[in-house]
Amino acid sequence: MAAATFLLALAVVALGSGHVDAFDPNPLQDFCVTDPTSKVHENGLACKDPAAVVAEDFHFGGLDKPGGTTSKRFGFTANQVQIPGLNTLGESHVRLDVAPGGVFPVHYHPRAAETALVLEGSVYFGFVSSYPDNKLYAKVLRKGDVFAVPQGLVHFLHNNGTTPATLYASLSSQNPGLVLLGNSLFAGALPDNLVAKTLLTDQHTVQTIKANFRRS
Ligand SMILES: *[C@@H]1O[C@H](CO)[C@@H](O)[C@H](O)[C@H]1NC(C)=O
Repeated sequence: MAAATFLLALAVVALGSGHVDAFDPNPLQDFCVTDPTSKVHENGLACKDPAAVVAEDFHFGGLDKPGGTTSKRFGFTANQVQIPGLNTLGESHVRLDVAPGGVFPVHYHPRAAETALVLEGSVYFGFVSSYPDNKLYAKVLRKGDVFAVPQGLVHFLHNNGTTPATLYASLSSQNPGLVLLGNSLFAGALPDNLVAKTLLTDQHTVQTIKANFRRS
């Protein structure tokens, strides 16, 4: 009887703490500005001495223009908002610019939900629910529209309009992670026959697609 009560209590505690553990840890101080010189590795980055923290640690400018990394192949530019003071706050932000015809290819973030606001242009944006439904939730978004993507679900955006599109996306982790489905299957070292069987196709088709991924 006592053992059963103990197990029940343990289960309740496990359920409660499991809920909290599924997200970035909550900060235990006002801020934990990233210390770029620290060699200490933890779940997040080490904090700078609070006495040395300045307003600039919470600031990032120039987001009125595209910048950061550009993918010519896919037609997008991603400018990650780099604010040292966001460390441990459980969020990250990015400006995305997508050329007409461009895509942010099909991907998911293992550790974050996402909301995206369209600042300019129009995009076809959406996500697919998990197996076995694989249901598509997608819309054509225009300037001023916001769309939410649940954590871990496969999503995409396609600028199938005729003008450049700009979006601002916020993610619910300081390190959302990015899994690009095409790269996982065709840019890594998975054997051709395994990928072919996974996609119910032949190895020749897989080799052709892999060659496209190797071409830059
Ligand atoms: C973009 O694609 C969506 C989904 O197929 C479609 O509803 C929309 O009309 C397309 N927009 C343009 C400008 O072709």
